[in-house]
Amino acid sequence: MPSKILIVGACGQIGSELTLALRDIHGDDAVVASDIKSPTSPDLIDGLFEILDATDFENFKTIVSNHNIDTVYMMAAMLSGTAEKFPEKGWDLNMTSLFNVLNLGKEKLVSKIFWPSSIAVFGPTTPKIDTPQQTIMEPTTVYGISKQAGERWCAYYNKRYGVDVRSIRYPGLISYKTPPGGGTTDYAIEIFHEALKSSNYTSFLSKDTVLPMMYMDDAINATISIMDAPAESVKIRSSYNLSSVSFTPEELYSEIKNHIPDFNMSYESDFRQDIADSWPDSIDDSEARSDWGWKHDFDLKMIVKEMLEGVKSLKKVN
Ligand code: SER
Repeated sequence: MPSKILIVGACGQIGSELTLALRDIHGDDAVVASDIKSPTSPDLIDGLFEILDATDFENFKTIVSNHNIDTVYMMAAMLSGTAEKFPEKGWDLNMTSLFNVLNLGKEKLVSKIFWPSSIAVFGPTTPKIDTPQQTIMEPTTVYGISKQAGERWCAYYNKRYGVDVRSIRYPGLISYKTPPGGGTTDYAIEIFHEALKSSNYTSFLSKDTVLPMMYMDDAINATISIMDAPAESVKIRSSYNLSSVSFTPEELYSEIKNHIPDFNMSYESDFRQDIADSWPDSIDDSEARSDWGWKHDFDLKMIVKEMLEGVKSLKKVN
């Protein structure tokens, strides 16, 4: 049986688009989507799909062996906002799922692993502007602590057991096809839905909160590029800084207003403001660019145009 790719968390915001991109490249028969819940999107229902609890190692092993899985994209995680509400559950899901996949690599049951990290690994003591690859990292959220610890475990399994694990620190990801779940950067998605629905949006982050952001297409390209790169080009085995654009809620609002002139925005910060304030404004990703040729395509203007068209097209379908 030819070897296959497994995506864990395939119903999630990144996993759903990654699954389709990998099926386009490798063919439907080469990609197994999995999630703890059944898919609702017709695209996922049509392809190979397994129910998988990422915290259950035996469940993992069965699927890996039944499908002759060679490469795993471990995309299941509890994001920053939700993990603050359920700290131990967040830690348990994020760490156990990572250990499971790293141990598949250690036992030579799979040969290549992708695991996402995040800008959440940084904290209030990190330099905020052009945050370097190597710097002070004192995350203050459960999610950030789990990602920082996870990065160290990735580097450890690579050095000690030769596991080929690759990772990038995603900024806030903006997409319309699948809703995000419980992130601090999600305002930058909700805003498009509300702009088109009611022409009003109340942002849960203040107007001048700068955060690093990225359009999903760029994030998917980065993910596939680092996995396709020759092993010797992937020199950093914790996780790579990755960046495209940084903006504030007010800047995003004003770009959307160019398309929807009567759109109104108000601001009412909630607990996620503290999380956002602890994260960098901008990221220096020169090592990803030089080591494996990363480059982004989407700036703020393009993101807004694509998102408005994309969200409108969803409304037509529904
Ligand atoms: N988008 C994520 C979050 O807000 C950051 O990795 O939790």
